[in-house]
Amino acid sequence: GFEIGKLRTQTGLVTLDSGYGNTAAYKSAITYLDGEQGILRYRGYPIEQLAEHGTFLETAYLLIYGELPTVDQLSAFRGEITQHTLLHEDVKRFYDGFPRDAHPMAMLSSVVSALSTFYQDSHNPFDEDQRHISTIRLLAKLPTIAAYAYKKSIGHPVVYPRNDLGYVENFLRMTFSVPAEEYELDPVVVGALDKLLILHADHEQNCSTSTVRLVGSSQANLFASISAGINALWGPLHGGANQAVLEMLEQIREAGGNADTFLEKVKNKEDGVRLMGFGHRVYKSFDPRAKIIKAAAHDVLSALGKNDELLDIALRLEERALSDDYFVSRNLYPNVDFYTGLIYRAMGFPTTMFTVLFALGRLPGWVAQWHEMIKEPGSRIGRPRQIYTGVVERDYIPVEQR
Ligand code: ACO
Repeated sequence: GFEIGKLRTQTGLVTLDSGYGNTAAYKSAITYLDGEQGILRYRGYPIEQLAEHGTFLETAYLLIYGELPTVDQLSAFRGEITQHTLLHEDVKRFYDGFPRDAHPMAMLSSVVSALSTFYQDSHNPFDEDQRHISTIRLLAKLPTIAAYAYKKSIGHPVVYPRNDLGYVENFLRMTFSVPAEEYELDPVVVGALDKLLILHADHEQNCSTSTVRLVGSSQANLFASISAGINALWGPLHGGANQAVLEMLEQIREAGGNADTFLEKVKNKEDGVRLMGFGHRVYKSFDPRAKIIKAAAHDVLSALGKNDELLDIALRLEERALSDDYFVSRNLYPNVDFYTGLIYRAMGFPTTMFTVLFALGRLPGWVAQWHEMIKEPGSRIGRPRQIYTGVVERDYIPVEQR
């Protein structure tokens, strides 16, 4: 998909690179990804080590500030985030206006965008203090915004944050507690969700991150840039794939649970059907995150005593696909989304919330990439060129003569 275009400009030839498969838009020191060998590192630390030993807030700090925090730095970071978890009471009215069946990703991006109306004191991306406070506000408030979106969808009153709890605990409690019953925090669920958020925290110049950078390159404020990233993530070829995987597994179950029949449809490209949760633009071998998540799916389901027929279907699909020439010849392997939905479902989340969980995880990466771009000396507005294929020139004809 790479060709030299016909457009010659003062600075040289314009290249046409469909989907930017071979075009680097930035230099970055945040995430290293080797798609051939299935390697993913944040700031040099292997994803496997961070998932095994780290925490999500520690990882967020690492991505944004470049180093793992000391005990004091982590405690100060956590303390600051904790102070900002509440939403302004007027923000709640936005939820009153949304239809009850609105997709929570639409609510998430709208409310994040609306934060820029409440925090006009932090719109200047070149002021370090303003960058800092908007970063803290976003990290602190996104779980609250997400939990409120869920409450809206089920018609329940919101649950306010409780600041003696950790980041993930607080989010789970705001999501699942009801006035009559406090949600019981299970360390297995808390640990698994924390790990999933780490695994989603950054992935170099993917679609949503590039969107955040492109919007941010116009010097739009952080809330506006992140809101755009949330919308990019929503699509089924990106973060929306975790919802699409579950829907696909349910359809296969309803049709009798036959993995082979479904794979035949995919291979024949019937109605454009794809094996959701498979394939990746950059990974041409195993996605290292998928390996960790597959193991976590087993652990969480057995710890919660849940036997999910959909997990069996997923395992069958994976096994068949990995020995099928269609998938092998195209280097299609399970990606991060193939097993996540099964874990989220076991935790009690409805499918529409899956992509919201991805957004919670990806937020530190978006923020880190935005900071890096803003601080880069000589950073320019993002502005791709095109190869024009329309009519060269013609004369205007008055409407009555057309
Ligand atoms: N199922 C069946 N066939 C596939 C799949 C799939 N999941 N993915 C790619 N292919 C096929 C394509 O049909 C194409 O075949 P062809 O050569 O016969 O035309 C070939 O593999 C190359 O596919 P492209 O679409 O060119 O690959 P691209 O790099 O543009 O797309 C993407 C990557 C979007 C992830 C794709 O693999 C896909 O649609 N996967 C399913 C959706 C998904 O799981 N998305 C999540 C990605 S990870 C993330 O965002 C977190």
